[in-house]
Amino acid sequence: MNSLTYVESSEPHPEIPLLGGDVTEGVVRVGDTVRRQVGPNAPLVHALLRYLEEIGFAGAPRLLGIDAAGREVLTFVPGEVAGRPRPAWIADEERLASVGRLVRDYDDAVAGFVIPEGVRPDEVTEQPGMPPAPPYPAEVVGHMDYTPDNIVFRDGRAAALIDFDVAKPVARVDEVYNAMLYWAPLCDPADADPLLRKVDVPRRCRILADAYGMSDVDRSRLVEVAVLRTRRSWFSMKQIAEERGGGWARMWDEGVGDRIKRREAWLERNAAAIDGALNAP
Ligand SMILES: Nc1ncnc2c1ncn2[C@@H]1O[C@H](COP(=O)(O)OP(=O)(O)O)[C@@H](O)[C@H]1O
Ligand SMILES: [Mg+2]
Repeated sequence: MNSLTYVESSEPHPEIPLLGGDVTEGVVRVGDTVRRQVGPNAPLVHALLRYLEEIGFAGAPRLLGIDAAGREVLTFVPGEVAGRPRPAWIADEERLASVGRLVRDYDDAVAGFVIPEGVRPDEVTEQPGMPPAPPYPAEVVGHMDYTPDNIVFRDGRAAALIDFDVAKPVARVDEVYNAMLYWAPLCDPADADPLLRKVDVPRRCRILADAYGMSDVDRSRLVEVAVLRTRRSWFSMKQIAEERGGGWARMWDEGVGDRIKRREAWLERNAAAIDGALNAP
């Protein structure tokens, strides 16, 4: 038995499927724990979760170990996660601001995390023709997957993050971009949830930026980062769908690539408005 082996409680609990995720098959709740398949980024994610526990960051599950079935065991984080159909509060501006604050708290907490020797983030392999990532140096191991399904709310506020599977070194502006992507949201309105189709997206970007406490230089880079990341994501999503299959392939087959192309066009049409809202005094 190594230190990672999870010792089951003597009381047996049923396995209750947790729905709403995008790609991980078979996420279940067992008592006060969650069991998930160990993903390709687990060496980084596990070190990260241990670090967050060490420094007492409250906004993430704790890693309890690996169970007899080889699954990772995490604490179940109590609260409310936006399922589908989305709840009306997805459009609420107070909740939106609380997302910006939680992303900031996480980024500040993780800023002191050093990736252990020998651990490599699971990232896409560069291919010829792949558009470049933004040129800004990494500042934190970002969460980079701030979907409504990955944020637990309590008392009407974003309280914790789950699903660190795509965590990787990024700049803070990438983190804010990722939160805007899902919560502003940055997409063609035709692709937005009906509850977010008529919202004032530049205004919501500003709310997130202010709640995060985004620097002036990062505000001036946001649109550029959004366009570059969007272009690159078409390639990376395609690559991951081909390599991993499963939920990734399903998303690709369901047209995620076309949605990314529509986002790029929408961003170009709305760049000035978003830039203006972010950088206005
Ligand atoms: N530690 C946790 N605490 C509470 N709920 C969780 C936890 N982990 C996962 N869930 C729930 O299960 C859903 C799917 O899990 P997630 O880890 O996000 O999988 P996926 O990789 O498929 O997105 C989440 O959207 C959330 O509702
Ligand atoms: Mg998820």
